[in-house]
Amino acid sequence: MVMSEKPIGVFDSGVGGLTVVKAVVERMPSEQIIYLGDDARGPYGPRKPEEVRRFADEIAGYLLGFDVKMIVVACNTATACALPALQEKYEIPVVGVIVPGAKAALRKTANGRIGVIGTEGTISSGVYERELKFRNPNVQVYSQACPEFVEFVEQKEMHGSQIYEIAKGYLEPIVNWGMDTLILGCTHYPLLEDLIEEIVGPGVELVSSADEVAAVAKDLLELLGWRASSEREGRLTFLATGDSERSRQLGNMFFGPEICNVIHVDLEKPLHFEEVTP
Ligand code: DGL
Repeated sequence: MVMSEKPIGVFDSGVGGLTVVKAVVERMPSEQIIYLGDDARGPYGPRKPEEVRRFADEIAGYLLGFDVKMIVVACNTATACALPALQEKYEIPVVGVIVPGAKAALRKTANGRIGVIGTEGTISSGVYERELKFRNPNVQVYSQACPEFVEFVEQKEMHGSQIYEIAKGYLEPIVNWGMDTLILGCTHYPLLEDLIEEIVGPGVELVSSADEVAAVAKDLLELLGWRASSEREGRLTFLATGDSERSRQLGNMFFGPEICNVIHVDLEKPLHFEEVTP
């Protein structure tokens, strides 16, 4: 198969990475996408970095079995823990969500005070802060782990007094500190955007890495001459390591009703491309 016709592999600890897939599909509708959600072992946020690194490596190897031309690590925690190792090991381009998000925040901030929210794994890695300060040593960064957000989103509780109070507890100190830009450093947080906006107010710009990473992936494929023909209709194949019905239902919330079929996979049993695409 010529490079341009090969699929793009995207993975996450579960369904959250579909916010990234959505942005990728919007920018590159003719691409074939194979998405793998590792919901059997997710969420990754509370796990040890070595463990996340091992899972990410296993999944990247599995996706390569479908002859993907690029891998998008659509998970902040997996990007924080595993991106350099994956980039070093695999020959195809592997892109993560953190650098694109950090660059977008630096473009947007006027006062140089940037807030970052994410899982415990992402925040304790310090990677956003490093990437931001590496590019502009004058910015100040306030990082805050929001461990309860993922669970609320997965329970479909994006509104209501309970989540509001929890979110206020996480966000008010960063607002009082004076940020003008907030990085949503977790794939689930775009679904909490309304709530977050209500708490942080109109003076704070929100940055979601989903759009930014989709733009990076597109630019890179264009540069390499690996974009799929615009004549072709793209397709999304959704694979999950855990409960495929739960993934389908949550997938509808993260992506839309187009998610009508989720294929359960066992990472120890590689499949061929033809077996997962109609
Ligand atoms: N996808 C993860 C992230 O962006 C959130 C869910 C998890 O903890 O695995 O960090």
